[in-house]
Amino acid sequence: MSIHSEVKRISVPQLMAYKGQKKIASLTAYIAPIARLLDESQDMILIGDSTAMVGYALPDTLSITVDQMAAHAAAVVRATQRACIIVDMPFGSYQESPAQAFQSAARLLSLSGADGVKLEGGAVMAPTTRFLVDRGVPVLAHVGLMPQYVNTMGGFKAQGLTDEAAERIFQDALAHQEAGAFGVVLEGVAEALARRITEALSIPTIGIGASPGCDGQILVTEDILGLSGDRIPKFAKRFGDAASVIRDAAAQYADSVRDGSFPTLDHCFGVKKNQG
Ligand code: KIV
Repeated sequence: MSIHSEVKRISVPQLMAYKGQKKIASLTAYIAPIARLLDESQDMILIGDSTAMVGYALPDTLSITVDQMAAHAAAVVRATQRACIIVDMPFGSYQESPAQAFQSAARLLSLSGADGVKLEGGAVMAPTTRFLVDRGVPVLAHVGLMPQYVNTMGGFKAQGLTDEAAERIFQDALAHQEAGAFGVVLEGVAEALARRITEALSIPTIGIGASPGCDGQILVTEDILGLSGDRIPKFAKRFGDAASVIRDAAAQYADSVRDGSFPTLDHCFGVKKNQG
């Protein structure tokens, strides 16, 4: 068996070693062309189940399946060489039991070649994290605002704003660390809480709507590119205007088709030079 590989990705243990040394930069990708462009700058690329909302225009993340996530993750893995690739476990694929979680995680990783999985849930999911890690599946936990809990949270609302709620989220993060998670995503939590968790944990925290004090940050790529419509979440920032680039290029193309300036004979087959 050959274990030689040309591709040298940032591994999960390498990401863990960033703690206290270097911030982790991370974005989402669902398709190859975007993943290819992110690979050189991001330490970690997440195939988020946010693709349900961003890519499929669904109202929440609940209806995406393991096989859909695996297909997106496989495309991202094929298009990248460097970034660590983590794939979200979709709703309903892991909450029932640790054994169900292992089956889903194994399917996601074997079909895609991703490096690890992310799962949402507080301390109640820590035994599942332990079960997966003990069986060779790296787990990134996701606590705080958990979009898969949209129905029990009553919407996408910031979390940990009372002392009691903050303490619960602190214990959630700690429980996943003790269960062997390699990192914790802190989404939509009070800033002071994110800072406290980051200081207390020995594994990296990756914030989204959390704190600049987190060990890393993650955003949805479409939000930073202006591809999410006019409204972006308070915690996101637009770093570019891909919407204008796409709209302008598409309009120029349509104008050229309509006025006959595209295609020219240069774009056609079987045309002799100097013909036309
Ligand atoms: O699904 C997702 O994109 C996420 C994030 C942390 C951005 O979970």
